[in-house]
Amino acid sequence: MRITVFGATGNVGRRVVAEAVSRGHEVTGVARNPVRLAGLPGEARVRVGDATDVDDVVALTTGQDLVITATCPAPGDESQLVTVATTLLTACAKTGVRLLLVGGAGSLTVEGGGRLMDRPGYPSFLLPIAAACVGQLAACRANTVVDWAYLSPPDLLVPGERTGLYRVGGDELVVDADGESRISIEDLAVALLDEAEQPRHHRTRFTVAY
Ligand SMILES: NC(=O)c1ccc[n+]([C@@H]2O[C@H](COP(=O)([O-])OP(=O)(O)OC[C@H]3O[C@@H](n4cnc5c(N)ncnc54)[C@H](OP(=O)(O)O)[C@@H]3O)[C@@H](O)[C@H]2O)c1
Repeated sequence: MRITVFGATGNVGRRVVAEAVSRGHEVTGVARNPVRLAGLPGEARVRVGDATDVDDVVALTTGQDLVITATCPAPGDESQLVTVATTLLTACAKTGVRLLLVGGAGSLTVEGGGRLMDRPGYPSFLLPIAAACVGQLAACRANTVVDWAYLSPPDLLVPGERTGLYRVGGDELVVDADGESRISIEDLAVALLDEAEQPRHHRTRFTVAY
């Protein structure tokens, strides 16, 4: 597949690029800083681009089979995540390309009701990005044109091992026997590429965890 990855130099994005390249896909990695793009695997094409610029996104996605986005705004600029989502949706409506978004865990529901981000003890420093992710998901849900899917990571998303194993859920946080909700970023990338190759989610949110 021909896949464009926005946010390709980030914690999530570069593992998505690595997973896609390892499966033989033609990957175009996009970010704004060219220096960090130079660190991506040699098999990936790299392009400087801004996911808030519709013209950039149309140019970088025309003729592609799939767009994956894993951008993250700087602290204080969290609402950019919503702008990126609406820009990508607008561009993908023009190009007809499927869109997979990496979102946030905060809006997942938890056993007993309510959202993870509303649970007592949820770290206050995460609330701005969690709120932006709520807006990002709402922008997707308002779009009935693009073939999009929104992947909410589990509560804990950290660099680790690639096991290839994960469980899939919907709007509710997936937890293990110890009540923990986690996955390595490597396995989140596996789940994204599995969804890319065999689409099972259309205009809906899903989550993955061990
Ligand atoms: N448990 C959770 O819910 C959880 C945990 C971790 C991450 N996440 C989500 O996963 C996503 C990715 O996080 P991350 O940790 O991988 O972020 P990160 O390491 O900060 O990387 C962000 C990437 O986005 C790029 N970027 C930012 N703005 C851009 C723009 N306008 N156009 C193009 N590229 C842009 C950055 O490169 P340039 O600055 O060079 O453009 C960089 O490649 C975020 O949405 C985050 O909320 C969720």
